[in-house]
Amino acid sequence: MRIILLGLPGAGKGTQADRICSRYGIPHISTGDMFRAAIAAGTPLGQKVKPYLDSGRLVPDELTISIIRERLQQADASVGFLLDGFPRTLAQAQALDEMLREIRKPLDAVIYLHVERDVLLARLTGRRICRSCGATFHVVNQPPKVEGVCDACGGELYQRPDDSEETMRVRLEQYAQTEPLIAFYTDRSLLKTVEGQQPIEQVWEHVQSVLSQVGPSGTSRDQ
Ligand code: AP5
Ligand code: MG
Ligand code: ZN
Repeated sequence: MRIILLGLPGAGKGTQADRICSRYGIPHISTGDMFRAAIAAGTPLGQKVKPYLDSGRLVPDELTISIIRERLQQADASVGFLLDGFPRTLAQAQALDEMLREIRKPLDAVIYLHVERDVLLARLTGRRICRSCGATFHVVNQPPKVEGVCDACGGELYQRPDDSEETMRVRLEQYAQTEPLIAFYTDRSLLKTVEGQQPIEQVWEHVQSVLSQVGPSGTSRDQ
């Protein structure tokens, strides 16, 4: 399975990605997570991208494309992958197209998690993330059993610094650069829209039904 998850900040990409990746045994490749890990480790990449993440602006294409190129060459990605938060611009989508064409591994599906903008503020300000394993929670929608503690690994839960109302406004503006990807992947008959405004488990049901119809053993493939 080679899948892309597309959607506004807070649409539920990370939440569904965790489920998809454990169900299909593919690596979860999130450019946002990679950038945050680099910032936490204080690497040169981390230093370069920190001002972008802090302000909610997109990291320049060149940097983003090169980390994905490297990541897709790692052994675990040979069985497939789920891209969460990449591509986010037309230039990134075109670069990805080219990379996958070179290795003759086309995409199976692009899942677009559709949500209205008015639910996003509550989703992002209530989000909590595990410092150790990266699992996602929400204080109301998906609360951990013990406040501040990860259900999966017992790690400490934290709030992303860019989940403030002010930075969120910038992230939503930046999404204008991602919007053209809907047409880009519709034209390639890859786009599958899933209503992301239902409860998490219902979204997951819908995602599974979409994925059961695509991929190497599926029937509705165009390529
Ligand atoms: P990134 O980390 O990708 O952030 P994002 O796109 O803003 O998306 P989020 O992670 O905020 O939302 P999500 O859709 O994963 O939602 P989640 O499942 O957590 O990027 C961060 C930054 O990195 C960017 O601003 C940019 O600077 C940089 N960057 C990354 N990729 C880049 C690229 N390709 N190019 C350039 N720059 C890049 O859910 C949110 C909350 O809602 C959670 O608390 C969850 O529990 C809850 N929730 C989820 N689903 C539901 C539901 N169905 N009902 C109710 N609540 C729900
Ligand atoms: Mg995410
Ligand atoms: Zn954890």
